[in-house]
Amino acid sequence: MKNTRLIDGNHIDLGVCYYPEHWAKSLWAEDLDRMLAAGLKTVRIAEFAWNLIEPEEGQYTYEFFDEFLELALQKGMQVIFCTPTATPPAWLTEKYPQVLNADMDGHLIRHGARRHYNYNSPIYQEFCKKIVEKSASHYAGHPAVVGWQLDNEFNCENDRFYSESDTLAFRRFLMEKYGTLDALNQAWGTVFWNQTYTDWTQIHVPAKTNSNSPNPHMMLDYFRFISDSVCRFAKMQADIIRKYCKKGDFITTNGMFANIDYQRMTRESLDVLMYDSYPNFSYCPDNYDAGDVLKDRRSSKNLTELRAISPIFGIMEQQSGANGWNTSMDAPTPRPGQITLWTMQSIAHGADYISYFRWRTCTFGTEIYWHGILDYSGRENRRLREVTEISHKVAKMQELAGSVYQAKVGILRDYDNIWDAQLDKWHRRVETVSQESLFTALQLAHVPFDYVYLENHDTLESLSPYQVLFYPHASIMTPERARLLEEYVAAGGQIVMGCRTGYKDVNGKCVMEYLPGVVRKLTGTDIPEYSLAAPDEVPVMAEWDGVSFEVSAFNDLLAPMGEQAQVLAAYTSGCYQGEPALIRNSFGSGKVYYFGGAFAADTAKVFVEKLGISEPYGDIIRLPQSCELAVREKANIKYLFVLNYLAQPAEIVLRTPMQDIWTGETLSGSCTLAGYGVGIYKL
Ligand code: GLA
Repeated sequence: MKNTRLIDGNHIDLGVCYYPEHWAKSLWAEDLDRMLAAGLKTVRIAEFAWNLIEPEEGQYTYEFFDEFLELALQKGMQVIFCTPTATPPAWLTEKYPQVLNADMDGHLIRHGARRHYNYNSPIYQEFCKKIVEKSASHYAGHPAVVGWQLDNEFNCENDRFYSESDTLAFRRFLMEKYGTLDALNQAWGTVFWNQTYTDWTQIHVPAKTNSNSPNPHMMLDYFRFISDSVCRFAKMQADIIRKYCKKGDFITTNGMFANIDYQRMTRESLDVLMYDSYPNFSYCPDNYDAGDVLKDRRSSKNLTELRAISPIFGIMEQQSGANGWNTSMDAPTPRPGQITLWTMQSIAHGADYISYFRWRTCTFGTEIYWHGILDYSGRENRRLREVTEISHKVAKMQELAGSVYQAKVGILRDYDNIWDAQLDKWHRRVETVSQESLFTALQLAHVPFDYVYLENHDTLESLSPYQVLFYPHASIMTPERARLLEEYVAAGGQIVMGCRTGYKDVNGKCVMEYLPGVVRKLTGTDIPEYSLAAPDEVPVMAEWDGVSFEVSAFNDLLAPMGEQAQVLAAYTSGCYQGEPALIRNSFGSGKVYYFGGAFAADTAKVFVEKLGISEPYGDIIRLPQSCELAVREKANIKYLFVLNYLAQPAEIVLRTPMQDIWTGETLSGSCTLAGYGVGIYKL
C-alpha cells in the first residue's frame, strides 16, 4: 500500500457513502453538517451517477457534482469520487446493445438493475474511457477530492460473461497464451470426445453442453480470462485517472468477488483495495444456521482475505443498518453494540479507514430495505448515536494507525486451485470442508492467521514469517511452487498438506507421475491408491497417539518413503483400515505433514492442538471460545483486540497488566466484556 491522503499510516478515519442525487439539494448542507458532527469526515459519491455527467451521448455536464463538491469544500468534507461504469445509461445500452452482458444462452442482460455490461465490448470501453477522462479531468483537481473508486464491486451480481465481445476477447486471450491451435488443443486435451479445434473461430466462451459438463481445462482458462478482462478494464480506468490525480490522492475499488486476481489488480491499478463488510448476512433468515458457532464472526474470513492483498486496507461500505433488497437478502437491524463490534472487527484486521453504508436509507428502488445510519425520515436515532460514539473511540485509537496484523500461521492459497475447484466437484468437496474447518478451528483456538497467496514471482521471503503453513488441497501443483515449498521447509518451516495434493498440472490435467507428484520428495509420501470416502463407510476414522479423528470426504492410502518419513496416524475404519493416514517427513530443518483426507471440523482442531499452535497468547490472555482475538503491532507495541460476538457478557482474564486503549486504565486479572463488547488492550 502506498501512503495516501486518506490512509496514510498515521490516521484511522471514518466516512460514509452518500448519494446526493437521491436527495433534494436543500438537504445536502444539513446532511454534511450532521455527518461531520458524528465524526464522519469523508463521503463516497457518484458510483451510479453516469447520467448526471453525460445525460446524452457525448454531452457532458458538470454542474451537479460541482455544486456538491463546492459545498463539501466549504463544510470541510473530503470526497471519494467514483467512476460510474457499473451502471451504463439506458440511452447507451439501447443504442449499443452489444455493450450488454449475456447469459449462457445468449440472452442479453437488460437495463434495469446494475452491472449489466461486459468488460470486453470495444464500444463500452470507448464510452468508459471518455466518461472517466471527462470526470477525472474535471473533478480530480478539486481540493475536496481525496481519492477515486473504480466502478463499483467488479463481478458482484455476475461473475460470468457470455457476450459476443467476450468470445472475441477470449480468442485473443488464448492466441496470446498458446500461440497455436496445436498448443491449445494439447493443453485442453481436446482429443478427448473429439473436441479438437481446427480454426480459432470455433472457440467460444462456455456455452450450454449436455449434462452441464464443459471441457474442464477450457473452463480453467475461462476463469483466468475473466480475471484478465476485469484487471484490464480496471487498469484502463486507473491509467486515465492517474494523469489527473493530485499528489497523495488514491485509487481504489471495493471487492471481493469471484474470478478476480486482486493481487494483480492491486499491483497494476490500485493504491489500496477496499472491501464492503456486511456481517449481518449470517442473520438473513434464508442463510441462518442456529448451530453455526461463528455467524457474523465469519466476516473475519473475508477481512483476512483482504489482508492477503494489502496489510492495511479500507472498508468502503461498513454495515450500519439492516440488509435488504426488496427481492432478497433480508437481515435484521444491527443490535445495540453491533455496529461498534463490526467496525472494530474491521480495524482489528487492518482497516485504517471505515466508511459506513449509507447515510440515509433510500426511499425508492431495489434497496429500500438496505438501511443506512438514518432511516427514511432522517430523524436522530440510536444508530447515529452509536456511530458518533464510535468516532470518539476511534479518536483515542489514532496511535494504532499503520500497525500490522500479527500472524505466525498461514493458509496458503492460489487462484489456479481456487478456480479449478469451482468446476471440479471432487476438488471442491475437499476444499470446502477444509477451508471452513481450518478457519473455524483457528478462530476458536484464538490463533491469528493470514491467507498467503502463492504467486509465480513469490520468493522465500513471503513464506518465512510463518511457523506453520496449511496448504490443504493444492491439486494443481507446479514445479516452481513445489521448489518454493521445499526451500521454506528446508529452512525450518512446517507445512501441512491434505489429500489430493499434486495430482494436476497447471492446465488442470492429471499427471502420470506417482502421487503426490512434484511434492513426493518433499512429503516423503507415496500414494499407491485412493478413494472417495464411501458413503456406506463414513465417517472413516484414524488415530493419532490415541486421539481419534475423521479422515473426511476423501481417503488417500499412504506409504512412507525414506528414513525421514514417519507414520503418525493410521486408518481405524474404512477399506484402508490399518494403513497409514498421516505421514510426517523431516526435510532439511523443517517438517511436512501429509494427511490423506480433508479436514473435518474436529480434525482441524486436532491438528491445531497437536502442532502446538493453539492459544499463542495464552500466557497473557485467557478468552472464552466466543471471543475473537486479533493482534496489531507497531513500533514493538502490541494492540490486542478482543471481540465478543455474543449478546451475553464474556469473562476474560488478562494475565499481565495491559492498558485499555479507550479509558487509559491499566487492567489485569478478570474482566467482563459486555454483550457485543470489544476490548482493545495495549501491551
Ligand atoms: C453493495 C454495493 C452498494 C449497495 C450495498 C447494499 O456492497 O456496493 O451499492 O448495493 O451493497 O446492497
